[in-house]
Amino acid sequence: MLNELAARVQAIKPSPTLAVAARADELAATGKDIISLSVGEPDFDTPAHICEAAVAAIKQGQTRYTAVEGTPGLKRAIIQKFIRDNQLEFSPNEIIVSCGAKHSIYNLFAAILNPNDEIIIPAPYWVSYPDMAKLMGAHPVIIKTDHTQRFKMSPAQLQAAITDKTRILILNSPSNPTGVAYSAKELEALAAVLLEYPDVIIATDDIYEHTQWSQEKFSNILMVCPALRNRCIVINGVSKAYAMTGWRIGYTAGPAKIIAAMKKVQSQSTSNPCSIAQAAAEAALNGDQSCIAKMTHAYHERHDYLIAELQKMPGISVQPCDGTFYTFPCIENWIKMNARINDDIQLAEYLLDEAGIAVVPGSAFGAPGYLRISYATSMEKLRQAIQRIKTAIEKLKNY
Ligand SMILES: Cc1ncc(COP(=O)(O)O)c(C=O)c1O
Repeated sequence: MLNELAARVQAIKPSPTLAVAARADELAATGKDIISLSVGEPDFDTPAHICEAAVAAIKQGQTRYTAVEGTPGLKRAIIQKFIRDNQLEFSPNEIIVSCGAKHSIYNLFAAILNPNDEIIIPAPYWVSYPDMAKLMGAHPVIIKTDHTQRFKMSPAQLQAAITDKTRILILNSPSNPTGVAYSAKELEALAAVLLEYPDVIIATDDIYEHTQWSQEKFSNILMVCPALRNRCIVINGVSKAYAMTGWRIGYTAGPAKIIAAMKKVQSQSTSNPCSIAQAAAEAALNGDQSCIAKMTHAYHERHDYLIAELQKMPGISVQPCDGTFYTFPCIENWIKMNARINDDIQLAEYLLDEAGIAVVPGSAFGAPGYLRISYATSMEKLRQAIQRIKTAIEKLKNY
């Protein structure tokens, strides 16, 4: 039976973060008290004015197919967003709306990557980049980084990874899973390398743009280096900023030729994103932006609590983040504490079984020896989780 499946499907694995969440749900269904710190989505409801826009759209009959690349209204809202937040100007033919940023990235890879092309992915990476590339027959070239360099690749590492086969470099800042963001200066240094390689396309995944609270404000590589304009693709969406993960709206801005190719792919797969979700996304982007600050403030508060508590635990190495709702501590010393635990996957299993705490092993993000801890959950849950992790780690030696 397996042999009957396409080779491209056999080359990939299901999303590991979704798998952890599913295992935690299974245990919870058996009555086990589980605190999930594995989720990759805001724990807030979509703000009311956005929901109301969706209801109005239904009542007004906006229930038919839209243009493949998105409604003119939403595209205008996206163009305004780029001017407002990023000082970047795009024309309507340089924008396409898709069913989530994940879908945007998929369409981009389908439009650009040929079999045996190389795509540079700095690790720790978002779980879907390598598998999506493999689906296209392309080869992920992983640049390894660790906590001693704050998980940021150096210009020299980037330069060393570029070959004649490199088609795309993907950047994600602030990063899932590390919560670390590149500064404008660091991006400038990477851009200086890229200017020497005019055939490399740069995709910047800005989905956590608005959950950045560091002193230095968010920048992407195009904002700091306009000379990359003819080969830089900006990917963003409403999922994280506006607590709209279920609505499935993401968008891409970039050179018209690439956007047209993505549109062709989308026209032969999903067609337009949901018309009602598009109306809601338009209201999100055009409406009062204070909802973003409220949510980001909550993530920041939880972050400060969590980092302070984790830093008190012996053996862990963890640094403050610039944004997102994740932290990515190095737990090599915890693994060494018990001979029966050999890696981050077994440690995550131990935490789930022993303490009812669901976290994602760093291996899922190309970084063994780490754990991704999400704080998209209430302070009360976080306090309980910290107590349970403390007790479980104290017990680890004699487990
Ligand atoms: C780095 C990164 N990019 C893209 C996405 C996809 O977001 P969306 O819900 O818009 O598909 C996620 C979601 O977890 C993410 O973490």
